[in-house]
Amino acid sequence: MIGMQVDVRAIIHEGAELTDKALESLIPTPAVVPASIHGAMRHSVFAGGKRLRPVLAYQAAVAVAGSIPAGISHLGAALEMLHTYSLIHDDLPALDNDDLRRGKPTCHVAFGEAIAILAGDALQTQAYEVLAGLACPPAATVEIIRLIAQATGTVDGMIGGQVLDIEGEHQKPTPELVQAIHRAKTGALIRVAVVTGGIFAGATADQVARLDTFGRKAGLAFQIVDDILDITQDSAQLGKTAGKDLTADKATWPAVFGLEQSIQDAARLIEEAFAALEPFGDKADGLKAVARFLVERKN
Ligand code: IPE
Ligand code: IPE
Ligand code: MG
Ligand code: MG
Ligand code: MG
Repeated sequence: MIGMQVDVRAIIHEGAELTDKALESLIPTPAVVPASIHGAMRHSVFAGGKRLRPVLAYQAAVAVAGSIPAGISHLGAALEMLHTYSLIHDDLPALDNDDLRRGKPTCHVAFGEAIAILAGDALQTQAYEVLAGLACPPAATVEIIRLIAQATGTVDGMIGGQVLDIEGEHQKPTPELVQAIHRAKTGALIRVAVVTGGIFAGATADQVARLDTFGRKAGLAFQIVDDILDITQDSAQLGKTAGKDLTADKATWPAVFGLEQSIQDAARLIEEAFAALEPFGDKADGLKAVARFLVERKN
């Protein structure tokens, strides 16, 4: 194979560091009043997430521009704030009722339910404050904000997916239902991370459409793998409670299609996703490597 050898671990490590630096500078410390909520926000944000949504945004930008554009770490930080907010609320007693997240006690276990709910809310509002100040042309900033609000909203977005997920417990899941849940609760944010990374870097309409197709497939694959890992790994490896989906009787990909087919579907979706990136040439090698990592990860 001709082309550059890509070191995916280095790409993810660098992207995570870039994101952490931005998050560190953006999120108030507990020295700022009210101390409790800033402590809670930081507890969950700095608990050791993989930062894959920011990394996907950066690598989508590299596919368009050839290098990581200055200032994009604030887009990554905003995506990570939104993702962490979704995790804090996902773990609440009223939703999945989990006490372990990113290898630490969940936000509500450490800070109480009221502060955890508010910490999730606060990360969401702060994300939009950060997005409003992005260092890209105003029209691109507005488009990024609109797409991210949509992707985390109720119609085919994260919140809508969470509703379907909760209401889908204890029902016999159909392929259509589990697909709708996964595309919305997890796929939408991954997809929009890829698309907005491209828009930040000045992607053309055709490039945006290609990144969108790639992100849609990779996002679905990501949640299929999350379901697989819930069955095949232990809590220490995951940093969150393993085996939870079966106990909670969740509508998961393996529950509908079985474990073997789930593994195959995730791999097939990533291969299909790659096809959309063809015109980017080897500038998309980093994005492809991260996508491959999405399905090969063990936590
Ligand atoms: C977990 O996401 C929750 C899902 C949306 C499936 P990640 O696997 O990206 O979790 P962190 O951010 O690394 O903790
Ligand atoms: C979480 O899905 C999706 C969101 C947080 C939006 P899961 O409930 O499967 O995530 P984990 O397994 O708790 O991380
Ligand atoms: Mg959940
Ligand atoms: Mg959960
Ligand atoms: Mg899960």
